[in-house]
Amino acid sequence: MGVDSMLRGTMRVNELGHLEIGGRDCVDLVKEFGTPLYVMDETLIRENCKRYKNAFAQSYPTETRVCYAGKAFLTLAMCRLIEEEGLHLDVASGGELFTALQAKFPSERIYMHGNFKTDEELTIAVRHKIGRIVVDCMEELERLNSIAEKNGAVADIMLRLTPGVEAHTHEYIRTGQIDTKFGFHIENGVALEAVKKALSLKHLRLHGFHCHIGSQIFEIEPYRIAIEQMFSFAEIVRSETGFVMRELNLGGGLGVRYTPEDDPPTIETFVASICETVREIASRFGFDPPILAVEPGRSIVGEAGTTLYTIGVVKEIPKVRTYVSVDGGMSDNPRPALYGARYFAVIANKASQEPNKIVTVAGKHCESDILIRDIPLADPQPGDILAVFTTGAYHYSMASNYNRFPRPAVVFVKDGKAKLVVRRETYDELLRCDHKLD
Ligand SMILES: Cc1ncc(COP(=O)(O)O)c(C=O)c1O
Repeated sequence: MGVDSMLRGTMRVNELGHLEIGGRDCVDLVKEFGTPLYVMDETLIRENCKRYKNAFAQSYPTETRVCYAGKAFLTLAMCRLIEEEGLHLDVASGGELFTALQAKFPSERIYMHGNFKTDEELTIAVRHKIGRIVVDCMEELERLNSIAEKNGAVADIMLRLTPGVEAHTHEYIRTGQIDTKFGFHIENGVALEAVKKALSLKHLRLHGFHCHIGSQIFEIEPYRIAIEQMFSFAEIVRSETGFVMRELNLGGGLGVRYTPEDDPPTIETFVASICETVREIASRFGFDPPILAVEPGRSIVGEAGTTLYTIGVVKEIPKVRTYVSVDGGMSDNPRPALYGARYFAVIANKASQEPNKIVTVAGKHCESDILIRDIPLADPQPGDILAVFTTGAYHYSMASNYNRFPRPAVVFVKDGKAKLVVRRETYDELLRCDHKLD
């Protein structure tokens, strides 16, 4: 399996044998914008948004909400795109909320998350009347209630629950007590207490429950278990308090393809399965189908992103390994260093050539900054452009200035045009918060 199996959206290998995205030759993009460069296929992002919306429209009888998880990739342009596609937006910090508000994203379509939301963050959320605040702990219930009271408001909330299943890629575990900082545990009774507390507080309006079971998930079964748990909890709540769950938010987590071996379910399969499961389990427990929300991040932007680097050094250690060093690394992609994430890449200016060498791609940073181990490439040489696939989610949003690297630019490409949505940071900007020396 090679480069063909990784081509997504508008990607293709053009007549010059170069990788092309959104009708733009990657070699030309590099001439115009430099490297490292995050290239986002706008058409594919929009298509993924539409696929989620259409799949829900076909499979679910009442209202659904696709809340794009901004933590995956958020800029003003992305907020605008999400708004135009009719999605909701999940924010997880004051900075993400600020970005959304600056982009004039409709506040009633914003969901706010976090295991510790500061008073400042909650106050902004309340004053802007955002759609839902997803409350994570007992202390936050009290604090949010008094912030809402001070602002003469009633905050619309959901409770984040820990449903006893945790999933990542091919593995999931079913466990009563998940060791997590997030949410109210169902098993130990805290979740029920939280519902009672929320219902007793005058400045909170409870709509339903939320859970998020993990990331880069390739299986549907853990979602089924989580849905079952959420409804059996909702039934207990209904009989103990009379509160009826009208909204259910199942979080994000659908996986994407980082390498040719990855084979996640399609958006359509995922959505159809969870809709069917929710309908079936709701009816078994005697509930009307609730408003159903999901919070996809990675599966909307992940495969739409490609990072372009310039190869600077090729160092062959005979009988050991060949290192190919590029002009970026863990400051633009911390995922390999953080959790051993695997990637696939191609030399953008030799995309039609057969790979003839197994190499290791190294970043420029001081730690053991390895981006990809043992990848076949076509005769890598200094000056070549390396395109690393599936870097649209948790890359720009996790980028840092480690080693005082300026963060790369981000371009949206579509129909032969490239739009600069974030320009490259300058060296001067690295000093913008430093106090000037006398
Ligand atoms: C609460 C919540 N919702 C949604 C997401 C998005 O997950 P993904 O990008 O895997 O779809 C996350 C990711 O951590 C999350 O914590």
